[in-house]
Amino acid sequence: MPSSTSTTLVHPASEQAAEWWRTAVIYQVYPRSFADASGDGIGDLPGITSRLPHLERLGVDAVWLSPFYRSPQHDAGYDVADYRDVDPLFGTLADFDAMLADAHARGIRVIVDLVPNHTSSEHAWFRAALAAAPGSAERGRYLFRDGRGPGGDEPPNNWTSVFGGPAWTRVVEPDGTPGQWYLHLFDTTQPDLDWTNPEVHAEFESVLRFWLDRGVDGFRVDVAHGMVKAPGLPDWAGTSAMIDGAHEGETGSEDGSTGAGNRGPMWDQEGVHDIYRAWHRVLAEYDGDRCLVAEAWVEPLSRLARYVRPDEMHQAFNFSFLTTLWDAPALREVVTASLGASDAVGAPTTWVLSNHDVVRHASRLGLEVPGTKPNGIGVGDPQPDEELGLRRARAATLLMLGLPGSAYLYQGEELGLPEHTTLDDAEREDPTWWRSGHTERGRDGCRVPLPWAAGAPGYGFSPTGATWLTQPASFARYAADVQEGVEGSTVETYRAALAVRRELALGSGSLAWDESLTGPDVVAFTNRDVLVVANLGPDPVALPQGAEVVASSVAPATAGTGRLEVPAEATVWARLA
Ligand code: GLC
Repeated sequence: MPSSTSTTLVHPASEQAAEWWRTAVIYQVYPRSFADASGDGIGDLPGITSRLPHLERLGVDAVWLSPFYRSPQHDAGYDVADYRDVDPLFGTLADFDAMLADAHARGIRVIVDLVPNHTSSEHAWFRAALAAAPGSAERGRYLFRDGRGPGGDEPPNNWTSVFGGPAWTRVVEPDGTPGQWYLHLFDTTQPDLDWTNPEVHAEFESVLRFWLDRGVDGFRVDVAHGMVKAPGLPDWAGTSAMIDGAHEGETGSEDGSTGAGNRGPMWDQEGVHDIYRAWHRVLAEYDGDRCLVAEAWVEPLSRLARYVRPDEMHQAFNFSFLTTLWDAPALREVVTASLGASDAVGAPTTWVLSNHDVVRHASRLGLEVPGTKPNGIGVGDPQPDEELGLRRARAATLLMLGLPGSAYLYQGEELGLPEHTTLDDAEREDPTWWRSGHTERGRDGCRVPLPWAAGAPGYGFSPTGATWLTQPASFARYAADVQEGVEGSTVETYRAALAVRRELALGSGSLAWDESLTGPDVVAFTNRDVLVVANLGPDPVALPQGAEVVASSVAPATAGTGRLEVPAEATVWARLA
């Protein structure tokens, strides 16, 4: 610990050997857009296998794969028709096994996505439910209800879908008459399961075992805060948005019970925790520290921490960090709160800046109010400053990777990829775009196929040059091959930071705020003996005498005094002599 500074310790380092996921850097692969081997313009499992050397060189500990299961792809695979098979778009189970074996041989663990809140409307269970009568066991796996009003013509309650529009769709009964309604918190093609039904529990435990037996290292659990609904499905005055989540204090009680109707009767209900306790026990039967990661848009952080109590899940995505503006006091506050909340339950803190549901951070941070979170950006919207956004994104990443805990990266961020902010609206596939009546652009702009080779058709994404979404011309500048081996390129910056993070054990490290460097535009802390200084302001910040730079988002400058300085909008890691 540098002695010349006054520090406030928030989180101590750990010297005990611990489960791998406590400190892991986990790279999200979005299979549709990572790499295409078949040539159809949609990424696939053999494509992922072919690019594992890139991930090994990058130095990540694990990958998380978004869904590759059988699916009609109405929500890009988050609408699963068969949880135990690979969609032909992505390959076969044998391709999965080959990918998993290759990843493991390279020391990369593999987490797969589990989508338990809803199935696809093409799942065998839902087809059977449509063919069966109201009140049948087949309908009892989902949330079918009679409508309200004369003839049952009105939806059973007033809930809206996260993607826009009503959360209920009416079916036509097998005899041709207008019938019951079913609940879907997302698209019409994603009917919600009824988690009060023991058959649903048994089925998902069996699905967990199917993939655990194949050797996966864990699961990212989709919509982990949504599976249990308040009894009686009461009306709710609020609306739910993707990049929002439940907020404490809006309407309800601290114990999470729903009677008072707080945080929405569909979110963060007490019953979800019983599910995760049961799953925890399933994973504990297997060797190798398998893990469960919660995708739960729940606030505040103390509420989120309940998902990672010792007998529940192992990690939860820290969306409070992701949604914090580019503002030094706000960042310090969220880091302190994150570490405090997870330390209180003995779980690792996680950090994340980008994923397949949000505008890429290289573009978010280039907006007029850096860090704001529009639901997509398109032609006619205020456009981000690309250069400034990238500079800040690299600084934000170095800040994140300097923190103790586990960090998530989203494919392409290691290339500095911006959002596609001028995608032709006619190409959009995210159901958000039409369900919102074309008011929310949605998430296609962060899902554009990756550029691997600047000079190749489709920037080397596919052998045919086909790409399921058109890539912007700017991707030529970001292609992996033009950055490879180039000092100071984004990919080399990530690689260097990950190597230092591993070598100096920053993942299991400490956090102490450096009060002498901290300022309105400066986030400064030590992790073990590494000083991390993020300068969000326009003026350079001098590093202490004798600082030895070990990683940086842009090269530090030397001032007239001979002291090293952290330039504007940059982060530097330094060791003190
Ligand atoms: C999660 C996924 C998102 C998906 C939604 C519905 O939030 O991350 O992509 O649309 O769940 O499954």
